[in-house]
Amino acid sequence: MIEEEVCGKKVLIKMDQLLPTGSYKDRGASLLISYAREHKVSSLVEDSSGNAGCSIAAYSARAGISCEIFVPEHTSVGKLRQIESYGSKIRLVKGSREDVSRKVLEQIWENFYASHVYNPLFLHGTKTLAFEVCEQLGWKSPGAIVVPVGNGTLLLGVSIGFGELHSGGIIDHLPKIIAVQAENCAPLLRAFELNRKDPEGVDAQSTVAEGIAIERPIRGTQILKAVRDSGGIFVGVSEQEIIDTWKELPKRGHFVEQTAAATIAGLKKYISKSGPGETVVSVFTGHGLKTACE
Ligand SMILES: Cc1ncc(COP(=O)(O)O)c(C=O)c1O
Repeated sequence: MIEEEVCGKKVLIKMDQLLPTGSYKDRGASLLISYAREHKVSSLVEDSSGNAGCSIAAYSARAGISCEIFVPEHTSVGKLRQIESYGSKIRLVKGSREDVSRKVLEQIWENFYASHVYNPLFLHGTKTLAFEVCEQLGWKSPGAIVVPVGNGTLLLGVSIGFGELHSGGIIDHLPKIIAVQAENCAPLLRAFELNRKDPEGVDAQSTVAEGIAIERPIRGTQILKAVRDSGGIFVGVSEQEIIDTWKELPKRGHFVEQTAAATIAGLKKYISKSGPGETVVSVFTGHGLKTACE
């Protein structure tokens, strides 16, 4: 975790772009693939916008499990090459991220479905981010944590992690969860604004934040509840705000992908509302080299 200055205030940032495959998804893939290996799985399938596919492919290679990753055809070339280099097969699917999810469902009867969205083990891997944040703060909770959200695999993991530390008496309060969505694809932000329990149907536009371009989040109701229960909010960021932040970050030595920059664009908006003395933590979720050739 590093200290950064954002809009004149100090914040702390977890550098998850430095994990083995270059994104936070390694936290979930490590646990899910360990489970698959323990249960003698020999082949598996997964669908992804790119990064979860990279992580599942890498940990499957390590475990000697054959792996096939379904991705949207517009996925960043860097992520596709990365998946292939681990020895996984790639299935490019025409259409939206939801079309990819539908396609993989036809294959799950013959293979183990290593879904980072459905399989709860993935969330019990990503919860380690909350454990590390508290450990690095001397077993204290931050005031707020700013995370991106599409399908919520980081957000829900963080919510479980802080919840477990709280119920175990290790921390005395839960941080507010500040959830960032791209305005072009914001079913959860819209539902939050309208005070709805379930995600809103939206007419999504394309966004440079490919990792959070999720029109119908499967765990949407759970995500909305986790944010509300924490006292947190949703923040929307425009394409211009994402691109501006993405271009600013390298000038401070940080090369992250556009989806990760979206989080920091949201952090900039939240920071003006944060309380005096509030410890605010955020995350660099993906490395810039993955999308550098786009
Ligand atoms: C770099 C990056 N950040 C954030 C996310 C958002 O994760 P989720 O869709 O689980 O909320 C993703 C998902 O692919 C990602 O690749």
